[in-house]
Amino acid sequence: MTAKVLDGKEIAQQIMEELKPRIASLLEKGVFPGLSVIILGQNPASMSYVKSKGKACERLGMRSETIMLAETVTQKDLMTIIAKLNTDPKVHGILVQLPLPKHIDEDTVLEAINPEKDVDGFSPINMGRLLAGRDCFKPCTPNGIMELMARYGIDPAGKHAVIIGRSNIVGKPMAMLLMQKHKGANATVTVCHSRTKNMPSITKKADILIAAIGSPEFVKADMVKKNAVVIDVGINRVEDATAEKGYRLVGDVDYEAVKEVASAITPVPGGVGRMTIAMLMLNAVQAAENFAGQHNAA
Ligand code: GUN
Repeated sequence: MTAKVLDGKEIAQQIMEELKPRIASLLEKGVFPGLSVIILGQNPASMSYVKSKGKACERLGMRSETIMLAETVTQKDLMTIIAKLNTDPKVHGILVQLPLPKHIDEDTVLEAINPEKDVDGFSPINMGRLLAGRDCFKPCTPNGIMELMARYGIDPAGKHAVIIGRSNIVGKPMAMLLMQKHKGANATVTVCHSRTKNMPSITKKADILIAAIGSPEFVKADMVKKNAVVIDVGINRVEDATAEKGYRLVGDVDYEAVKEVASAITPVPGGVGRMTIAMLMLNAVQAAENFAGQHNAA
């Protein structure tokens, strides 16, 4: 039987709808939730993600600001901009689009973001809180995957979840979220990466397989256990002369073949990507609510 399609677009829309009354309530208190996004250079994929984030804010009636900087901006100038946003009461969420140009030190930048405005959850404070199982801003892509599974009634408890990829953005926080001692988590987690030996022997054991390596159609049907849940994080541009834009988007999973083996699968596009944006909006609204709470108490 063909796999059930986990519709990230529909679930993301639901989440966005649920945010509307929370935003209305903030507006009543005089707080206009605002997200500031910084992008360096003009990488087409990054530009497209940033545009989607701005559009999502617009649809929710949130304040959004995109700060477009030259690829050659100095680390010092970037740090000055972040410092200003950190203390600006109109800004509740700050996001620096990754990857950054080589001359910029990513660790220093992420560490500079006020943890209470760090809606990506990439600052070491939020990463540490996540590792400790404490309340924090959770990275949007892995958190979106947890939410997508929860809303489809897929409970990871006691299941073997295998993650392909060990990035700070997806692989590592995904492992942390899946192994949390919380309802909707409690999985047994294995993380595979470029140095893993005999990867198919491991992926074949996965009840939940999460592909986050950025390699087009890397996961083939013979790497997947019958009836596994397959989550595809990849958004890869592959050349396609027949496509209007000259490229098409494919995931890290060979979708057509794997959907015949899996019990559930996320499409690309319309899967995890949509969830990432919805969870970013959720984090931004949460940041504004936290600000409003502190503001009232003062
Ligand atoms: N680049 C790819 N994914 C992300 C993300 O979730 N946040 C940021 N800031 N940059 C990214």
